[in-house]
Amino acid sequence: MTKRYLVIHGPNLNLLGAREPDVYGRLTLGEIDSRLAAWAADEGIEVRAVQHNAEGAIIDALHEARGWADGVVMNPGAYTHYSYAIRDAVAAIGLPTIEVHLSNVHAREEFRHRSVIAPVCRGQIVGLGWRGYLLALQALAADAEEDPGA
Ligand code: DQA
Repeated sequence: MTKRYLVIHGPNLNLLGAREPDVYGRLTLGEIDSRLAAWAADEGIEVRAVQHNAEGAIIDALHEARGWADGVVMNPGAYTHYSYAIRDAVAAIGLPTIEVHLSNVHAREEFRHRSVIAPVCRGQIVGLGWRGYLLALQALAADAEEDPGA
């Protein structure tokens, strides 16, 4: 069975490439998604990537993922630090979810050190730039291979 994963890019990540490139890198969101798509095609895995600025749209995407996805990779942007609604949605759907941050949030402002979403995630990857998404997808796929029932 083909594994299917949802990648959610949260608020302001549509501006990647132009947005604080020293912090977030020079790749655009389209370039990142192309790299993930190239990996997925090689592996025979389906990856659908979406970007939403609105909290409710992210929650809707998580709910819809219940119907088709085997796992989720999500960069919730600033919602990471305060959205109990996104946290509850991750807990509600019961899909393995990996939280990704391009920057090393722990080396930045204090308010970025806390994630209210990470406790309900399978894991968290921070500070490795765009490769964090790839590593997260690889981890979900490796989990599924070890335990196909999961
Ligand atoms: C971010 C870190 C967040 O603190 C910030 O609000 C973002 C991007 C990251 O990928 O490093 O929008 O999630």
